[in-house]
Amino acid sequence: MAQEGNIAETLTTELTGSHSGAGSFTEELKVSGMAETLIGSEIIKLAGEIREKIKSGEKILNFTIGDFDPQIFPIPEELNHQIIASYNRGETNYPPAEGIPELRKSVSLFLRNRQHLAYKENDILIACGARPLIYGIYRTVLDPGDTVIYPLPSWNNNHYCHLAGANGCPVETSAERNFMPTGKDIEPFIADANLIALCSPLNPSGTIFSETDLSDICELVLHENRRRKGRKKPVYLLYDQIYWLLTYGSTKHVDPVSLHPAMADYTFYVDGISKYFSGTGVRVGWAFGPGRIVEKMKSILSHVGAWAPRAEQCAVSRFLCMDNEIDNFLYSFKKQVQLRLDGIYDGLMKLKAEGFAVDAIAPQASIYLTVRLNLHGYRTGDGRVLVNTADVTRYILEEAKIALVPFYAFGSGPDSTWYRLSVGTARPGDVEDFYRNLRNALSKLSL
Ligand SMILES: Cc1ncc(COP(=O)(O)O)c(C=O)c1O
Repeated sequence: MAQEGNIAETLTTELTGSHSGAGSFTEELKVSGMAETLIGSEIIKLAGEIREKIKSGEKILNFTIGDFDPQIFPIPEELNHQIIASYNRGETNYPPAEGIPELRKSVSLFLRNRQHLAYKENDILIACGARPLIYGIYRTVLDPGDTVIYPLPSWNNNHYCHLAGANGCPVETSAERNFMPTGKDIEPFIADANLIALCSPLNPSGTIFSETDLSDICELVLHENRRRKGRKKPVYLLYDQIYWLLTYGSTKHVDPVSLHPAMADYTFYVDGISKYFSGTGVRVGWAFGPGRIVEKMKSILSHVGAWAPRAEQCAVSRFLCMDNEIDNFLYSFKKQVQLRLDGIYDGLMKLKAEGFAVDAIAPQASIYLTVRLNLHGYRTGDGRVLVNTADVTRYILEEAKIALVPFYAFGSGPDSTWYRLSVGTARPGDVEDFYRNLRNALSKLSL
């Protein structure tokens, strides 16, 4: 103990240039206001709690994680092979800060072939997944005190605002609009905004923008920037399309620049292999947008050191050119994900038809299903009333052994009755178990 104290005291001396008395010791260790007030990810916290329950032996149907079980959903075999081959070739030194040229070229071709978007290598920045790129966009276009419009529910925009010292301007969306924001939602706030952060397919709902809704928002941005011309920074658009190749049935992914080419001056896309190649732990993502600004972002991220490992970059650059392997992988991966989403959705519709207070939005994209448990005010078998969403979430976890993430973890109001259900770690048998367990738990409730 004495030694620990000494080390801490030495550190304090190094940081402050003076020895502190015992009384002021903790005060000396204060951190920045930003760090002091940053809250951790609510979803990761919840997932951690569920993991602890599972570790202690409880059999939980865990639908909370926006990740994959590699035993169920491994990365593409050829990508795996290319990663090992890259390490065996000794691809282990620093990559260039903007990403290796081969990968930026492959991404450029991939975007042209699969999304009909024309972005040159210099418009593309590689990093270790989407997160640092989102952070980089926030830091590149925003000054402290600037305003960011983002929809609720959405993933982590509140935290990125905090990190950038920006003011969040969240706009509440509705189930009727599939939880996607519309031009009408955004219009009242756009005159004061510096960034609009959008995501489609959306985490947490798994729903996508319709062409009309996204087009309306693009027109607002273009109109606003014509109005500002030369007088004020333009309003930029962050378009997170990390799930875009995971669409089902007739669902079609749309994007700002394809709809309105003039949006190319203001749009930053966020993309990568984390979700559609099941490679969350491989850590390769890319952002693309106006080259002049991407260059600034590159400088910021180079000091963070957020580059993806060189060997993974080499592997992904080769894999992105393997059209057949990609098509084959996506075909079977999407089939497996869709099987689970459809199965759970069908179960919920059956329960709804039986008169239980549940609902869902038909699966459109990603690995998520939007589920409603409208159970506030119901009484449990032992007479407890489910007063709020926290009570409902706990009841479903304890009685049905089903773990879901309430939308309030994504910024929706605490009374929201909607939940995110992720199938990234679901086994085929979990679909049946979900229906049976939920039915059983619902049957024990009364009004
Ligand atoms: C919408 C969205 N964007 C970005 C990310 C982060 O992706 P990455 O793991 O590549 O950092 C996630 C992860 O869950 C996400 O859901």
